[in-house]
Amino acid sequence: MSAPAWIAREQAALMANYRRQPVMFTSGSGASLYDTDGRRYVDCMAGISMINVGHCHPAVVAAICRQAERLINVSNLYYTEPMLELAEWIRDHSMGGRVFFCNSGAEANEAALKLARKHGGPLRPEVVALEHGFHGRTYGALTLTGQPDKRTAFMPLVPDIHHVGRDDLEALEDTVGPRTCAIFVEIVQGEVGVHPISREMLHLARALADRYGALLVVDEIQTGLSRTGPLFAYQDTGIEPDVMCLAKSLGGGVPIGAITARPGIDATFAPGDHGSTFAGSPLACAAGLASCQVLADPELQGAVRAKGARLFAALQALVDDGLASEARGRGLMCAIDLPGARAAEITAAMLGQGYLVNNTSSRTLRFLPPLVIDDEDLAGLAAALRTVLSG
Ligand SMILES: Cc1ncc(COP(=O)(O)O)c(C=O)c1O
Repeated sequence: MSAPAWIAREQAALMANYRRQPVMFTSGSGASLYDTDGRRYVDCMAGISMINVGHCHPAVVAAICRQAERLINVSNLYYTEPMLELAEWIRDHSMGGRVFFCNSGAEANEAALKLARKHGGPLRPEVVALEHGFHGRTYGALTLTGQPDKRTAFMPLVPDIHHVGRDDLEALEDTVGPRTCAIFVEIVQGEVGVHPISREMLHLARALADRYGALLVVDEIQTGLSRTGPLFAYQDTGIEPDVMCLAKSLGGGVPIGAITARPGIDATFAPGDHGSTFAGSPLACAAGLASCQVLADPELQGAVRAKGARLFAALQALVDDGLASEARGRGLMCAIDLPGARAAEITAAMLGQGYLVNNTSSRTLRFLPPLVIDDEDLAGLAAALRTVLSG
């Protein structure tokens, strides 16, 4: 069956909310994906940073198979060992506080928003987030998302959520106050095209949260789990969050999300305040623990920094040669802006060359390869980009 046939089936069976690339994958391993004809592609997107560990990592596959044979899910009415193990792992590798599990990034932000509102109480309903940020598609997460084009059709949204420019220190200072219960930030805004938030902005957010007793919520859904080098991107910034949101690579490809909060703040939810039938399933947590153990390896994290520096240098060379107008990156989270509105065309041409990349706008290309990608594939990506951009 060919691409036109799948597209016809898609149009008849699926709602039209995605723009899929015309390729069907049947298997994968590490940074390689294989289509229905057995053609190999180099994955430079890792499912939007959802499978940092690489496709079908043997430790994750073994954990899933082992767990699937014993117990897949049983709900949160009971205890299961993998849930306890993954919660302990997250607690011990971040802020030392307890964990709430959910099933996605949007759900993690919803949980953080509810926790912040309950923690702040009725006199502090206001939340501040950054323009251009992305926090998900459900109502709370969508309202936190600082991109009007994604929100307009779905008004009215959740009240008392305000946005300030992502580098606007003065606006942040003016907007956060005694009625603020939380400030939401990403360390690097990913969905909008990889824009790191300045140290000054992050430190000011921390200071204002401290001044007013608000919670600093760091959304590490895309930056977390060694994507930028450290296990969590905040660990390179000199600030500590009060609440951290995780999802994407937390499950090694299996859906799971989580929030963790500092000790004390982690006591905000009481029984009945929040929940989810599927969340923290033994299957997702077993896959998650296996994936996290791979991603927390200091050797892998050192390699992410080294490979990220090489990828950034290759992207900067495209800028120096006039093929791109700006390169940005932290670890293996990189993007380039193009001089013209050609990003969709370049994404399609890169697919033709066997490389999966993503256009976050008409002018911006984003690269989020699995962290296990090797130097040869990274060099191939840079060479293919040069060819396509020169065409
Ligand atoms: C920073 C950030 N937060 C939240 C989300 C939403 O995650 P999900 O698609 O799992 O709901 C994303 C997804 O791209 C993200 O990048």
